[in-house]
Amino acid sequence: MCGIIGYTGPLQARDIILLGLSQLEYRGYDSAGLALLTDEGNLYLRKTVGQVSRLKELCREAVSSHCGIGHTRWAKHGGVTEANAHPHQVGRVILLHNGIIENYHTIQKQYGFEGLATSETDTEVAAQLINYYYDRTNDPRQAIRRALNIIEGSFAFCILFSDIPGTIFAVRNVSPMVAAATEQGSFIASDVTALIPYTKTYFVVPEYHILMLRDRSICLEDPEGNTVEPELLSVSWDVEAAQKNGYPHFMLKEIFEQPEAFRKTVQPRLRDGIPCFEAEKIPDSLLSGCRQVQIIACGTAMYAGMVGRAILEQKVRIPVTVSIASEFRYDTPMIDSDTLVIVISQSGETIDTLAALRLARECGAPIISIVNVKGSSIARESDYVIYTHAGPEIAVASTKAYMVQLAVLYLLTGRMMVARRLTSEEEIRAFTEHLVASADSIQEMLDVIPDQVRIQAERIAFSENAFFIGRGLDYAFSLEGALKLKEISYIHAEAYAAGELKHGTIALIEKDVPVIALATQDKVFSKTISNVREVRARDAYVILITKKGASVSDEVCDVHLEVPVEDGFFAAFPCAVILQLLAYYTAYARGYDMDKPRNLAKSVTVE
Ligand code: F6R
Repeated sequence: MCGIIGYTGPLQARDIILLGLSQLEYRGYDSAGLALLTDEGNLYLRKTVGQVSRLKELCREAVSSHCGIGHTRWAKHGGVTEANAHPHQVGRVILLHNGIIENYHTIQKQYGFEGLATSETDTEVAAQLINYYYDRTNDPRQAIRRALNIIEGSFAFCILFSDIPGTIFAVRNVSPMVAAATEQGSFIASDVTALIPYTKTYFVVPEYHILMLRDRSICLEDPEGNTVEPELLSVSWDVEAAQKNGYPHFMLKEIFEQPEAFRKTVQPRLRDGIPCFEAEKIPDSLLSGCRQVQIIACGTAMYAGMVGRAILEQKVRIPVTVSIASEFRYDTPMIDSDTLVIVISQSGETIDTLAALRLARECGAPIISIVNVKGSSIARESDYVIYTHAGPEIAVASTKAYMVQLAVLYLLTGRMMVARRLTSEEEIRAFTEHLVASADSIQEMLDVIPDQVRIQAERIAFSENAFFIGRGLDYAFSLEGALKLKEISYIHAEAYAAGELKHGTIALIEKDVPVIALATQDKVFSKTISNVREVRARDAYVILITKKGASVSDEVCDVHLEVPVEDGFFAAFPCAVILQLLAYYTAYARGYDMDKPRNLAKSVTVE
């Protein structure tokens, strides 16, 4: 949420900042701004409502600068206005921010800043406070430290002092920030995507450490003022991975990257045909010794967790609870050291998920996280991390990250079956074979289904409501299908356990309301088909998804789509492709930008 980039070095700062902002735009896109300290010693500050392309238009005039910061905003405090866009300047301080300053109102009152503000943001208070102390100390680090003693909340700040040319100061708490010093200059950003054109080596700025970036060098100070060496990390993907590469949208590109992401995630975790987490150092004793499993996540990751629950309970016969992180963190959790906590997050920075993880730790539970972004906060604070290898996910709507989260949950299920001696060698090998073959079923879907799905998307595109129904595992898949559709097409969509419909929701079924019915599970197939008949009898427009070869009579549905699996247990993967494409093409038919859905942003780093 909110993209940040800062640069100081031999190159032109404006070009680097504008490029960085367009790469980070998926983090927020309601307004954008940049501040440059020019070679003549002036401040060049430009802000605009709208996307980075508008900021580019605004920054056309000739200006030479080798040091600057930029921001793309997802509005939190204060509406979408130019005045509220970052950076904010107060006196000699120019500051931008990602996060929330919880006590900004108290600070305003206490320091008499009320009435002086030029914006409605909490951020301006931080600039006021740092400027206040800078005026009194003339020492930038002291000014920042004194302000930090007062500010409460989550923040990543990048700060320029107008009388200190060539230096960017940065500090963070919770909100992510990474940096790198290279031959081409020093960079700071809210995530590594913006650094990739310049370097693959970077570090995560440790919380409450003050970072000073100068031309090709950095200095990191711990809260006591001691200089410390950053812990360097490296990324395994390159610039192309974060570009559209000929696809019209990142979302479509990422849907098509799924077979590869799946293979990269699964293959390294197989030893002799058996799931294995040796590289992650996850001991079998942890998987065999726990009495229950608690899954914690938000949004799509949480829906991956719902599939996780269904497969773990089915194969491992262990009680599994799935909690929404924002609820869990304020609950009284009933977990202890015998509970295995599985935290799922693409970004590894979702603040509710991170807070829930911390609470789970306090309860003494061991934590395995399933994370896509290397070195992210959730990864660093977990006992064990299983990295998904989806590469950068740029589209706001998660697709490939969901797919590989599922893949890891299947692998974990397989390993738990082994660790708990619930399976013969033959059975687990067959399980693995099915899992590995899922990459082919995803590919087959991508090869054959897009046109059929596009036609259906055009058919439902102007509906006001849509329903996704299924039983058991199919219900878990439906949840993600409904979320995908609503978040990018803005059609109200609900997922319902098929058998529950007639307890109320069926009242909403009327002529032509789209119902996407999933019936891939043998055990409940005929029951789901009965529910489909119920909505069909009320003239719903039914798109039915079954396993290949399922016997379905013509009058049951309007359209019948098939997924190429023999065992419905592995239907998650091809079903996900259909549901993702349905959402994508529906948004397309409605003329929306599915890479930047309204009101949303990637990586939710505020509560
Ligand atoms: C929806 C979507 C979100 C995220 C959720 C959690 O398409 O992407 O629902 O799944 O915000 O994000 P992570 O996985 O980064 O914790």
